[in-house]
Amino acid sequence: MTGQRKFFIKSYGCQMNAYDSHRMADMLAPAGFSETATAAEAEVVILNTCHIREKAAEKVYSELGRIRKLKEAAEREGRGMLVAVAGCVAQAEGREIIRRAPIVDLVFGPQSYHRLPELIARAAMEDGIVETEFPIEDKFDHLAAPSREAVRARGVSAFVTVQEGCDKFCTFCVVPYTRGAEISRPASKIVAEVEHLAAAGVREVTLIGQNVNAYHGEGADGRAWSLGRLLRRIALVPGIARLRYTTSHPRDVDEDLIAAHGELASLMPYLHLPVQSGSDRILAAMNRRHSRAEYLDIIDRLRRARADLAFSSDFIVGFPGETEADFKQTMTLIDQVAFAGAFSFKYSPRPGTPGAGLHDQVAEDVKAERLARLQDRIDDHQKRFNAGCLGLTFGVLFEKPGRHPGQLVGRSPYLQPVNVMAPAKHVGEVASVTISDIGANSLFGNLSSAKGPCYASIGT
Ligand code: SAH
Ligand code: SF4
Ligand code: F3S
Repeated sequence: MTGQRKFFIKSYGCQMNAYDSHRMADMLAPAGFSETATAAEAEVVILNTCHIREKAAEKVYSELGRIRKLKEAAEREGRGMLVAVAGCVAQAEGREIIRRAPIVDLVFGPQSYHRLPELIARAAMEDGIVETEFPIEDKFDHLAAPSREAVRARGVSAFVTVQEGCDKFCTFCVVPYTRGAEISRPASKIVAEVEHLAAAGVREVTLIGQNVNAYHGEGADGRAWSLGRLLRRIALVPGIARLRYTTSHPRDVDEDLIAAHGELASLMPYLHLPVQSGSDRILAAMNRRHSRAEYLDIIDRLRRARADLAFSSDFIVGFPGETEADFKQTMTLIDQVAFAGAFSFKYSPRPGTPGAGLHDQVAEDVKAERLARLQDRIDDHQKRFNAGCLGLTFGVLFEKPGRHPGQLVGRSPYLQPVNVMAPAKHVGEVASVTISDIGANSLFGNLSSAKGPCYASIGT
């Protein structure tokens, strides 16, 4: 049943926020709300925000400027519009948001999402509610499950949060402050959520957490389970053809997780393992707690467990004190690992983090120049990796119709979009596809007669 009241939600930042936005929608559905794609017609507008870099945080205020006009128009028409700010900017800035943008009625942090209907009801009566406590209760116990229709509408690939928060305190990062201390959900709750998704048609699950491989939730035997153990259990859920996890920290890659990559055919051979820098001096200043050599050793061990494994990463250029020599170390690390893709950023000093107070900040033009060089190098490796897929046959999970009639789009094991002429009934299936052409942003392939997914070796 769709509700009469309408809400609009816009998500910024990481997959945790994307997942949280779905869970907020799931809380609002039983309260009589249905989602709309246009803020103008919504009674409740929610921005689920990201604080990771200055640009990300500032986006919220420009969006609030646009929403102010919509709210004024709604009021002229005699209907109200409740404006709420959730996510990491809400947690970090609290009441300051209402000071800068007085149209905001409600500010609430990631630990309060299960209370959303109640907060909306309160905000209709009180001015300027700010809810950024870290309550004792476990929000996951109170969050509503999505309906079958909601799961279907979201597609065959789903995120499931298994761990939240971070205790690592990298000196550049706001996450430990906005998301709080690390907590893991019990394995039984995660398995039940995955079973619910699988029963509604989900075929691929990505386990997510700010520091996902620090997972240590209570297992079926009452002991703390590692991420490897959890993955082995989830691999048994009927209907789940593919598993992924993100984002992991090199320090928490243990033998058990490496072994899981060798054992589990459904664990996709593509791993996002942020390294940030290739210089030991900068890694230490960032408090990453591992060296360049240790990172490279982890990559080697993972490749020994599964030869077709490819890697992506995150990089920050221009951390305080980074010299040209440090930066060159990052460039040689990129060549050594030959990443299949990466996200890269200029260092952005964040209020309250140790990095922001360091005196040897790098000039903006130097950061920009290094970022351009790094991105060119990553592009080269990505192109080479994609070109290496030509002629290979691997499993493609079909997600939706493609741009051309008769075409479907799916994802390769390496998350590349693949366009294939295939009947619509294949959506939700993993089919064997032979790659016939490499485009700028996607691959093209043909259904192969080979039985089942075949993962050709893609060593570098
Ligand atoms: N938990 C993950 C990443 C979290 S944030 C990890 O440990 O790697 C996602 C990415 O944003 C980071 O990997 C980092 O590359 C980037 N990032 C975080 N803080 C930043 C900052 N202050 N300036 C620039 N980039 C930043
Ligand atoms: Fe931030 Fe570091 Fe934690 Fe990742 S591990 S979320 S970069 S503090
Ligand atoms: Fe951004 Fe918060 Fe995610 S700061 S990256 S939305 S954890």
